Order: sequence, then C-alpha cells, then structure tokens
Amino acid sequence: MIEKLNTLETGLRGIPVGYCPTSYVDPEKGLFYGEYPIREVAFWEPEEVLYLLIHGERGSQTEVKEFSAQLKKEEVLSKESIRAIEGLPKQGDPMKLFSAALLLLGTLEGKGDYRADCIALIAKIPHLTAILINHHGGFGRTPSPDKNLSYMDNFVHMLRIPNTDSERLRKILTLYNILHYDHGGGNLSTFVGKAVASGLEDLFGSIAAAMSALAGPRHGKANQESLHFVKQAFDACKGDGNEENIEAFLREKIFNKELIFGFGHAVLRVEDPRATVQYELAEKLYPDHPLVKIALLLRKVGPRVLKENPKISNPYPNVDAISGTLLTAAGFTQNVYYTPLFGLSRSCGIAIQIVYERCYAREGRGTPIVRPKYIYKPYKR
Ligand code: MLT
Repeated sequence: MIEKLNTLETGLRGIPVGYCPTSYVDPEKGLFYGEYPIREVAFWEPEEVLYLLIHGERGSQTEVKEFSAQLKKEEVLSKESIRAIEGLPKQGDPMKLFSAALLLLGTLEGKGDYRADCIALIAKIPHLTAILINHHGGFGRTPSPDKNLSYMDNFVHMLRIPNTDSERLRKILTLYNILHYDHGGGNLSTFVGKAVASGLEDLFGSIAAAMSALAGPRHGKANQESLHFVKQAFDACKGDGNEENIEAFLREKIFNKELIFGFGHAVLRVEDPRATVQYELAEKLYPDHPLVKIALLLRKVGPRVLKENPKISNPYPNVDAISGTLLTAAGFTQNVYYTPLFGLSRSCGIAIQIVYERCYAREGRGTPIVRPKYIYKPYKR
C-alpha cells in the first residue's frame, strides 16, 4: 500500500513532521519570526531578533539588555580554540573549515548541555566566523572582540576584508544576518541539524553537520551561484543592460537547459520578502552600481519569462537573488565567504530549534530519533 504513496523520492516536500516554535514560512506572505513578518524585524537590532527567536515573543528593553550582556560574557573564543582554527589548512571551500571549526569549538569548549551550548554558540559564532574568514582568505590576524560593540558591529570590526565601504557594509551585513537566522523547521540544514541531534549528538556536532548541509549549491551556496549568474547577465549585455537584453539572456539559458539562479523556492509562491528588503536597500545605497542595475532588471524580467513555463510553480526571486550583488557593491567581493556568512546566521536558528526538540518537545521528553521508512527496491540491471 505504502508503495503507492506519492511521497517517495520527493525530498519529503510539504510533509509535516513536527512543530517549530521559532518561525514559519507562508507560501503567499513569506517568512515570519514568531508572529512578526520578516519585513518588520529586518531593521531591529540582532540581539532583539535573537531574543524573539529564543522566547517566541519580543523582549522588553531590560530583557534584551540582559540577554545582550549574557552574549557579551561568552563572545570570546579561548586561545586554544583560536589556535586550533588558525591551524586548519587554507585550501578548498571555506565551508569545510566552518564545519571543522565548529567541531573544534565543541571539543574544546562545549559543555554537553543543549541550552548552555546554544547560548555559547550564538555568542561565539561571530568571533569564530571572523577568525575563519580572515585565516582562510589571508586577511591577517583577527582582532579580539570589542566589549563595547554590539553583536554584528563586533563582527564587522573583527572582519578584515580589505577595501570595503565599511559603514554601508555594516548595515548590509547586519540586515543579511537577521534575514538568514531561520526559515521554518524544514529547510535542509535545519532539518539535518535536528536529525543529527535526535541521535543525542551534542549541539556543536549537530550544527557542524547542519553546516555541511548548508554548503551545497542547492541550499546555502546558491548565494554565490546567484552572484555569478548576475555577472553572466552583465557580460551578456555588453554594457547595455536593458529589458530586451536580459530577456534574451534568460531565454538562451532556458533554451540550453541551464539553471536560472536566484529564482524559485520549495515553499514560497511570491517574491521572497527577504529579497524584497534587500532590493530596497540596494536601490537606496547603490542605485548606479552596474551589477545592482542588472539584478533589478532580472527581478523585473525574470518572473515574466519564467511564468511561460507551467511547470515552474514559483517564478519569483528568492533571498539569494540580490544578496551577493549587494555585498559586492559594498566592496565585499570575495564570494566564497557568502555561504559562511549564511552559516554565521543560520547556525543560531538551528541551535534554537535543536534546544526546542531536545528539551521542550513532547512535554520535555524530546523528539525520538529520526528514523523514516525506506522501501526495498532492487537495482535495475
Ligand atoms: C532557506 O533560507 O533555508 C532557504 O530559503 C531554503 C528553504 O527554506 O528551504
């Protein structure tokens, strides 16, 4: 009987498997953190948003202040952890180092308590990510966190990317961080993190596994691919970006059966509001930047062209459509680090969801080990 179910080999698309207290994705309205649409929280302070994700409601000024102080206390990695991360090889994709760094941090500083490790991870992840990017990119030694700076200001202070438009980059990275914390319970990295934790692996090991899930081009790495796509469109237009040229570029891609990056989503059926907020910021900060202009033309022409294919259920831009372009416009052109930036943010949402599943779900008993059923089917010979 079960063989007839159309849920097999569909990536569990749309199949409810649990509860998520942090956020949800409405196909028509987009992402909500608690009861707040992402648009509304996009320009809050990161500490306020993290508090909301942890507690399910907005904190009072005093509560957020206390929470920020709690993060401050734990923001610095031990000398041993710093040395271990700076001892990692520099070759290859930085996401491999990111997972390795999380495992090292867990080994050297983990307490084996989901709640305590979740707060420690949220507090320390900016320092860890800055060390990792500076080390991998050869941008120099990472300064210690500054105890007078807030969560993301501190990250920008520690990041040594050369020649950036620093004040605007601070704004962009703070927005980027907030937009990527969480995306409901079922996105791949979150699901993987919770699945690994269901075997009672500790928080850092579970997050390291989740970051490997994030590293793939169908998930977190799509932000790098989308920037590449915008650059390809720019080159194809040969300095004359207009709707006609962009349409021709897209049609050629579709004709050659190549992927159209930055469009579509498994759940959303409208433009991703996380993209909308970034488009607005790009139009405000960099209206004349050549890649921003191309990204805006793709936003306009893409849905019209993609809608012609009835098989495409969502022809609209997603979060990746403009994020890389915006970072590039601010001088952060080293696109291999866009996925670690996604990881810096998403590891917080995943950690919070793991705490729910391990410590609160099913009246505190926690969810059982993930163990779906697979049906035996011999290879076709
Ligand atoms: C995400 O933010 O995780 C992506 O939009 C993918 C998803 O929600 O499945």
